[in-house]
Amino acid sequence: MHQRFYQRCVAGAVIVGFFFVGGRTFAQDATPAPPEAALIEKGKYLATAGDCISCHTRPHGEQFAGGLPLKTPFGTIYTANITPDKETGIGNWTEEQLARAMREGVADDGSHLYPAFPYPSYTKVTDEDVHAIYAYLKSLKPVSYNPPKNEMPFPFSQRGLMAIWNKMFLREGRYAPDASQSPEWNRGAYLVEGLGHCSACHTPRNQLGGERTSLALTGGTYQDAIVDSVHEQEIVKQENMIRPWSAVNLTSSPQGLGAWSVEEIAAYLKTGHNALAGAFGPMAQIVSNSTQYLTDEDTRAMAVYLKSLPPVAPPIDKSVNADQMQKGEIAYTVRCGDCHLPTGLGSPKTPDADPTKVSPPLVGNPVVQADDPATLINLILYGAHEAIMDDKAWPKMPGFEMDFGLGMDDDQVAALANYVRNSWGNKGNMVAPKDVAKQR
Ligand code: HEC
Ligand code: HEC
Ligand code: HEC
Repeated sequence: MHQRFYQRCVAGAVIVGFFFVGGRTFAQDATPAPPEAALIEKGKYLATAGDCISCHTRPHGEQFAGGLPLKTPFGTIYTANITPDKETGIGNWTEEQLARAMREGVADDGSHLYPAFPYPSYTKVTDEDVHAIYAYLKSLKPVSYNPPKNEMPFPFSQRGLMAIWNKMFLREGRYAPDASQSPEWNRGAYLVEGLGHCSACHTPRNQLGGERTSLALTGGTYQDAIVDSVHEQEIVKQENMIRPWSAVNLTSSPQGLGAWSVEEIAAYLKTGHNALAGAFGPMAQIVSNSTQYLTDEDTRAMAVYLKSLPPVAPPIDKSVNADQMQKGEIAYTVRCGDCHLPTGLGSPKTPDADPTKVSPPLVGNPVVQADDPATLINLILYGAHEAIMDDKAWPKMPGFEMDFGLGMDDDQVAALANYVRNSWGNKGNMVAPKDVAKQR
């Protein structure tokens, strides 16, 4: 199917129709329709690219049976059961109903779904791919399970409001290939903007929860549990410790992926780490359940697309004063400099490196410079665990939120964050002690 997608992109706007019709006739004559098993396999791959499993599986629950609570500023929404159970799942849904849910956010009974389900991204998915995802979901074992009722205060409890929200923020429509770009770029754009729903976390939202398109992929905020430990590459979260996390700037801004090559981005998506960073927060789950299973061609295509995004970053308007920098430098020297070095360049994983000191660079680092410092603060307080431990993985970084009065107070953590955000050419808005208090 990739082949066909590529062909259509190369063909460009005018020839698209011709190719499509021509291709169809050809397909009927020469190649038999894909057997059911191949269609299901393709649907599984696409559902993996869409990471349906992460949201539609609750801790210790059956896969795809739903019930995972998603905390939003508008209340708690529980994910639906999307196994083919007829009573509690989507066993009675037609393919058209699934397509409508993924594209317009409307359920089988005509009621509106909340955009915590990333249909504003999935609307870009082609008919062909929805067809395969439908076949895959239908092939799953039906599980009888009713997720809990949403906890949404009035007026957000009124699903009808989403009709207005959709008018304001939903840009319904399939991905339109850009004929001036390569097939690889178009494949990457299709995955990043569509099934990958990267913007759901990486784009800032307005007060009504709509994505701010002028700042697309420049970094957003998301609520998730703090990672407690990792067992057999399964991330274990502290369910009662839901905290804000900031998803970094993915444009080629110096505060974003400016310092990353296409190869480094692709390696991060494929393995969860590269020479510059490791996935330790909510991104670890995306890599573990989704991007690591994508083909090398697909992760590379995504990287090519991301690398082509023009540099955009939210403005920096609260600059840091000399007092903060001085306090921060002391804290950095005591707690961080041993591993990340006074230069902020980190200690690369070379064969003769001290394994207790290896660490990624903080210079040009997107987590350090993110507009919202939430992830940086989580990292300082709670440390970092990587989910996928192959020989290129970083070791665990310790957290510094210690009991017995030995930990850092909010002032010190803020000064430290300000120091790393504004040293070695890094840039970031001033962090206040109250920003740290929110993450405790
Ligand atoms: C970021 C989390 C998230 C991801 C990823 C996600 N979903 Fe969902 N999904 C939800 C939530 C939350 C709901 C319930 C929305 C509501 O109650 O309004 C939902 C609802 C649905 C529904 C409606 C079910 C019903 O009974 O009304 C379908 C169908 C669905 N999702 C399919 C999918 C598919 C297919 C994928 C992967 C391509 C997917 N979802 C990925 C969060 C997610
Ligand atoms: C014992 C060595 C060590 C110390 C001390 C240490 N770090 Fe780290 N740091 C690491 C390692 C290892 C990683 C990679 C962890 C991972 O990806 O799971 C890391 C990752 C990071 C990252 C994320 C990089 C990325 O994008 O993935 C930041 C930011 C960071 N450290 C900042 C700090 C700060 C600030 C301090 C001082 C409070 C500190 N570190 C102290 C070893 C250390
Ligand atoms: C559920 C929310 C979520 C989704 C969806 C998501 N991300 Fe992330 N991403 C994050 C967060 C939070 C971080 C910060 C670091 C972490 O969690 O490990 C991050 C970090 C990153 C980083 C940089 C890491 C660093 O250390 O500097 C890259 C690259 C990235 N994401 C790419 C993507 C791409 C590409 C997609 C779409 C396929 C995507 N993300 C989807 C939440 C998300």
